[in-house]
Amino acid sequence: KIVPVILSGGSGTRLWPVSRKSFPKQFWPLISERSLLADTALRAASAQFTPPIVVANQDHRFIAAEQLRDAGIRGAQIVLEPVGRNSAPAIAAAALLAAESDPDAVLWIMAADASISDLAALETAVKSAAKAAEAGYFVTFGMQPTAPETGYGYIAQGAAMDGLPGVFHLNRFIEKPDAATAARLLAEGGNLWNSGMFMFRAGVLLGEMERLAPEVLEAVRAAMLARTTDLDFIRLDTEAFAAAPDISIDYAIAEKTNKAVVVPAAIGWSDVGSWAALADIAAKDTNGNFALGDVVLENVHNSYARSDGIMTALLGVSDLVVVTTQDAVLVAHKNEAQNVKKIVDRLKQMK
Ligand code: GDD
Ligand code: MG
Repeated sequence: KIVPVILSGGSGTRLWPVSRKSFPKQFWPLISERSLLADTALRAASAQFTPPIVVANQDHRFIAAEQLRDAGIRGAQIVLEPVGRNSAPAIAAAALLAAESDPDAVLWIMAADASISDLAALETAVKSAAKAAEAGYFVTFGMQPTAPETGYGYIAQGAAMDGLPGVFHLNRFIEKPDAATAARLLAEGGNLWNSGMFMFRAGVLLGEMERLAPEVLEAVRAAMLARTTDLDFIRLDTEAFAAAPDISIDYAIAEKTNKAVVVPAAIGWSDVGSWAALADIAAKDTNGNFALGDVVLENVHNSYARSDGIMTALLGVSDLVVVTTQDAVLVAHKNEAQNVKKIVDRLKQMK
């Protein structure tokens, strides 16, 4: 059986003002009536999977537990981080936990904040990936790129692998290239976006970490050894975990390992990373607008507007993102949606 691992510790700053430190985006119903976390957990809720390991910040333990329970997910192991140290330490913790019962366990790492619309295609991709993971590979999932985005990892796809249908060699993994490199990679062809999902045996990941990011593994191993466990939660030791370097799995392992392969997949994937990304996948009216909540639009085009409780009216504008919450309003050009992070950084400085 495959062990789903859901990374749920990000802060989702680009979806401010809805996504907040106290209630980040993965806990919001942004795409369906369920939260992104619940949708993610349900994607891996079938006979081929064990209950998930969810790795989240300790501040969000009750939200996470409640949302999983409400979605009907039983038996989840919730690993709590005292501080965020990015995805490499989070994945190391999950791999160490899974390896305690079975080092050969195949882990399916998932971001809690992606949207996937073609579940049949996902199932096919997961089957191919599982075969490669069992064979000892570090499996990535390649998404067809549509723009020279700098916020993604890029995967140079190689030749098909013998005996592993749907699986390809990975020539190079480039995390978050600069704009010029991203443009070149897109123009060149043969490059895919990294989805942020991975699949590998727990023992394979731990072996690569030992080799390529030993400081991460050492700190997380200490934090696991000194963990406390109560009914619902596995709490990593604060001091030991805080000593882990802050680094993503992409930089720590994916760029460096020679065990990486790629499963290209057309799964209707979207990183729910910005309001513009949400606008792209939202159902729009004939003027290209999406409106949710207390919103009135007049002569508005190609815009995304949502409000919870405060009447918000747009008149004679286009290409805007307008998001109103009880205590903050964001008005942004759609093309600037990636930069909402800058606003959040400034607000932090003002505090
Ligand atoms: N538990 C935990 N702890 N989870 C975390 C932490 C942490 O400290 N930091 C991030 N995560 C989770 C996020 O919640 C998200 O589900 C996932 O790990 C990826 O983190 P992001 O911060 O969203 O990464 P990214 O979007 O910049 O880049 C990654 O995803 C892209 C696709 O969306 C990379 O894998 C890229 O290569 C990829 O293209
Ligand atoms: Mg992301």
